[in-house]
Amino acid sequence: MSETPIHPLYNHFSELPASLRVMYTAVLLMLGLGYLFAAVYLFHSYAGKDGNSLTLSYQDVVIAYSGTGKGSRLETGLRGSMSAMLPFEERAMLLDWVKDGAERARFEPEVRPILDRRCMACHDGSNPNLPNLNGYDNMLKVTEQDTGTGLFTLVRVSHIHMFGLTLVFFLVGTIFSHAYVRPVWFKCTVIALPFVSLLLDIGSWYFTKLYHPFGWVVMIAGGVMALSFAYMWVVSMWQMWSGRLPEAIARRRASDLPDVG
Ligand code: HEC
Repeated sequence: MSETPIHPLYNHFSELPASLRVMYTAVLLMLGLGYLFAAVYLFHSYAGKDGNSLTLSYQDVVIAYSGTGKGSRLETGLRGSMSAMLPFEERAMLLDWVKDGAERARFEPEVRPILDRRCMACHDGSNPNLPNLNGYDNMLKVTEQDTGTGLFTLVRVSHIHMFGLTLVFFLVGTIFSHAYVRPVWFKCTVIALPFVSLLLDIGSWYFTKLYHPFGWVVMIAGGVMALSFAYMWVVSMWQMWSGRLPEAIARRRASDLPDVG
């Protein structure tokens, strides 16, 4: 097998000054720790959404980005245990009001009388364990639709992720570029993959709102990103400090020696 010749500007870790290697190591340690914290945070904020807090599942991701799809708390209540509290027409009126966007204008004339008559006995706010249905502002809290992470929040998190992770992978990729890895296409792929994954990941947050199976792309892209990170981290650390010289580098060094004299 003919090996790709070493690029004249390429330096292996062993050819770098110790100061640079110490700096690279410090950066890798910090970023590795940061990645661990990020993983804990991710797990903590998403794993429980589907009712099972032990695993991070496809369902968790879909709920996080597109909501439960089950409508508001008020609708759940009216269709469930509260359905016996009021006559059918009044229930239909309440549901209709929520469906049309829970407008303030219709609250006093249409909604409040029903609530006063049928619900205030228990939901006037005096029992802290029951949702307070007293007044428009309190009603808003139970009529909110769960549509997942809001668009503007996604925009905010997107730009933070793009700046932050691009810098992280620029640093890790730059450090990893000093590792001796063959074939060259594989090394280049490992360096490029996190950026491709980042784009797919962030894009799919939005697409999951429209079409749930994009939740898989979110998960797979996140996994690929973490794997690339781990691979570059381990290979860099190992080649930096294990002291074992890749054969091609040793040969290049040996052929340089006579010139030094
Ligand atoms: C006799 C007391 C009583 C009356 C009257 C009553 N509720 Fe409730 N409501 C409860 C209790 C107790 C719960 C909590 C247990 C449950 O969900 O079954 C509850 C829960 C709810 C919830 C929360 C459901 C959830 O899944 O989070 C909503 C919303 C609700 N009620 C709306 C209403 C509305 C609207 C009315 C009037 C049409 C009403 N309730 C009348 C006792 C009452």
